[in-house]
Amino acid sequence: MINWEAYGDLVVIGILALFVLLEMISGALGRTKRTTNDWIMEFGVYIVLGLLIKPGIVISAVLLGNHFLAEFQHTLTNSSLWLSIPLYLFGDDLVQYCYHRYAHSNSFLWKLHRPHHQAEEMGFFVSYRNAGLYYLMMPNIWWMGLITFLGGAQAVAIGLAIKQLVIISSHSTVAYDKLLYKFKVLRPLAFLLQRVIVTPAFHHSHHGKSQLDGVSDPNGNFGNMFSIWDQILGTASFRREFPESYGLENDPKEKWTAQFFYPAVASADPASEISRGFKKQDHRTEEPSKLELEKGKAYLWCRCGLSANQPFCDGSHHGTKYKPLRFEAKRSGKANLCQCKRTGTEPFCDGSHQMKSRST
Ligand code: FES
Repeated sequence: MINWEAYGDLVVIGILALFVLLEMISGALGRTKRTTNDWIMEFGVYIVLGLLIKPGIVISAVLLGNHFLAEFQHTLTNSSLWLSIPLYLFGDDLVQYCYHRYAHSNSFLWKLHRPHHQAEEMGFFVSYRNAGLYYLMMPNIWWMGLITFLGGAQAVAIGLAIKQLVIISSHSTVAYDKLLYKFKVLRPLAFLLQRVIVTPAFHHSHHGKSQLDGVSDPNGNFGNMFSIWDQILGTASFRREFPESYGLENDPKEKWTAQFFYPAVASADPASEISRGFKKQDHRTEEPSKLELEKGKAYLWCRCGLSANQPFCDGSHHGTKYKPLRFEAKRSGKANLCQCKRTGTEPFCDGSHQMKSRST
């Protein structure tokens, strides 16, 4: 009997090896500023995910299937790969999109996902930075187990290899679409690709540090393999440029033990979001902030009220349903920027703070 899962894993290792080689040749690996902590986190997660978590979930899903859904066990065994591969891939990618998007607005899930966004540079291994619990709850790995149980192991192996090629290439510093954007004749191809799959430019934007650069959108582009979910659900922003910098603002850079084992292991740094008892502070005030704006300059106005740098965003909105507002000043001079966060004319004060009741 053919072990399709082992074949799939071998192909993924081959894809990773290819990108290691490409990043070495391009010099990106030689220039890396990754610390030992980063390497342990990225390589360690890759090993634990591949050897323990993924096989563990797939085996559990198959055992659960045998117990509760025994009559469906071979549903996909004789079905065409033209049917079972898209079924696996679209189902997998849709649930991963939803999970990933929710991880950016739910404070607990965000703490499990934030190691992924702490990487200050992109690279083939960045796709593997998340807490262990994040992977254990990942619905698409359970979907992989379900399709395997239904007899679609071959579809999973082929689909996984295709998906990992897209995911690893979209995280790599060797961004193939830079070449497509460079030559005018190839731009239509880049345009089309970005509207179907997640390209490096599309995904690097999601990892960018701040929307201020006009390229980054860490609160958008949640897709993993296909960009179609972002387009349908209104979270897509198409880019051909790449962010100025990656990572999180005010990052205390916790040890890999806390990043990977949270909530079992918490950070010892009280400033860290994953330390025990950490609570985000509400920095809203009733009075607007009167300050000088400069014509044409971009600003990032805080919508959530949690920024310690009011009225501007400091990244504290991660793990909430809010995202900052990027605006460019239309003229130079004094402006009243809202700090109660109830204005109807964002980012400017409209007098709402003078009303007694205040929603929280
Ligand atoms: S800190 Fe970014 S929107 Fe409030």
